[in-house]
Amino acid sequence: MNISVKNLDIAKHKTDCHVVAIFEGSKLSESARKIDAEAGGYIKSVLKRGDLSGKLSETLLLHDVEGITAKRVLLIGCGKAGKLSDNQFRTMLKTVATSLKSYKIKDAAVYLTDVELKDIDTAWKVKQISQVLTQSLYRYTKTISKNNSKPELRKVTIHSAKSDTKTTRAAKIGKAIANGMAVTRELGNLPGNICTPTYLGNQAKKIGRQYGIKVSVLGQKQIETLKMGSFLSVAKGSREQPKLIVFEYKGAAKAGNPIALVGKGITFDSGGISIKPGAAMDEMKFDMCGAASVLGVMRSLGELKPKVNVVGVIAASENLPDGKASKPGDVVTSMSGQTIEILNTDAEGRLVLCDALTYTEKFKPKAVIDIATLTGACVIALGNQGAGLLGNDQKLVDKLLSAGQSAADRAWQLPLWEEYQDQLKSNFADMANIGGRGAGTITAACFLSRFAKKFKWAHLDIAGVAWDSGTAKGATGRPVPLLMEYILSEAGSGAGTVAGK
Ligand code: BES
Ligand code: MN
Ligand code: ZN
Repeated sequence: MNISVKNLDIAKHKTDCHVVAIFEGSKLSESARKIDAEAGGYIKSVLKRGDLSGKLSETLLLHDVEGITAKRVLLIGCGKAGKLSDNQFRTMLKTVATSLKSYKIKDAAVYLTDVELKDIDTAWKVKQISQVLTQSLYRYTKTISKNNSKPELRKVTIHSAKSDTKTTRAAKIGKAIANGMAVTRELGNLPGNICTPTYLGNQAKKIGRQYGIKVSVLGQKQIETLKMGSFLSVAKGSREQPKLIVFEYKGAAKAGNPIALVGKGITFDSGGISIKPGAAMDEMKFDMCGAASVLGVMRSLGELKPKVNVVGVIAASENLPDGKASKPGDVVTSMSGQTIEILNTDAEGRLVLCDALTYTEKFKPKAVIDIATLTGACVIALGNQGAGLLGNDQKLVDKLLSAGQSAADRAWQLPLWEEYQDQLKSNFADMANIGGRGAGTITAACFLSRFAKKFKWAHLDIAGVAWDSGTAKGATGRPVPLLMEYILSEAGSGAGTVAGK
């Protein structure tokens, strides 16, 4: 989709549809007022009839409005003028996207930068408009035989009186984030019989080729040579080969220490010998969403080419029961040399991640962030609103918290107090892979922290945010926006701020 930012003349601009805001109490936004003036008070008289009061996300489509060149005008309710929150702004944009889709509009001009948001600049609004509208183009079709409807929206022009390099860049960033999210969503949505570790490796190579990013995919033998005994213990029960996928995006000077992203890539988690109950087990195809977010970020970086170095490390495997699978009580030796008693084969994410974390040491990273659908406990704690965030460096954690806040992709910190470490004691190894009933998300992070001693590290538990269940079942593309916001701000090229947060 073509997205640009321009200072548009609303009377003369040719488009299938202008999108303009109306506030509660039938108050007109600046753009709506301009149309109203051209059309001799038509907008006001329509509002007087009571078809649209301006409540958040109400819509009304007008045709052939006199005095303007555009074919249609979509009025969108934006709530109380000056009172809209950043999240409400995004909700409203999603409604705009749905409406444009349902009317099969190909070309739209969006005038929503004139909606005032407290402490938020124009660039942020432009970025969100670009991101939400691009996101709306994604549809899963791969394994559905009857599916010929293609997205119609091809061109979006965002009106901004300040159409400068900053807003143009913001539109580009929004689009690149949405394109990255589409990669993440597609991989998440693909069934486990298609999206295997090998498939993930091939998709990584494809992104590498397309954007000139170095990608290596290590197989069983190479993983054995690296002595990743913990990672391999998870793959033992599967007939699919495990893969260690490594991205090296170099946008800055060679010497610059990279940010490392480490993704959990369990392409199906049955629980292994500690098998899961049947209900909703299909959703464990989403257990590679951490890995998929790393691929999504790489795609976004490839498109934007920011001046920063980013390494991506993905441990990909299935977790299945088998005569050769790991059993409760088995003890394995991780790449770090630390031994682990596997008390529950369903706590497999940490077993693959710990070796991937040790592997990242070789890049001398300035910060390491792992992303994992790690614990059901995190869904209990935070529901589907925010990712769990823990780490060994408060500055890094704070940066990620504020990146999530600005990107409308929030995370919430949980404590990583030393006392929790006791829950991982084992009589037969250096540690157990589970920590008992209490604080499941924290003890999982405690486990990982033992492999993250040599660098600044943060852990994002995305079990509650990576996909939606029920009728809207599908991958969300989170936390690509959070990660991109963080990376771009490290590169000094962010766009749009939520001040004071
Ligand atoms: N992939 C799951 C976590 C998960 C479960 C995410 C449900 C989203 C929804 C992970 O591998 C797992 O099974 N974790 C166990 C850990 C337990 C055995 C300590 C869990 O959360 O039950
Ligand atoms: Mn599991
Ligand atoms: Zn899992």
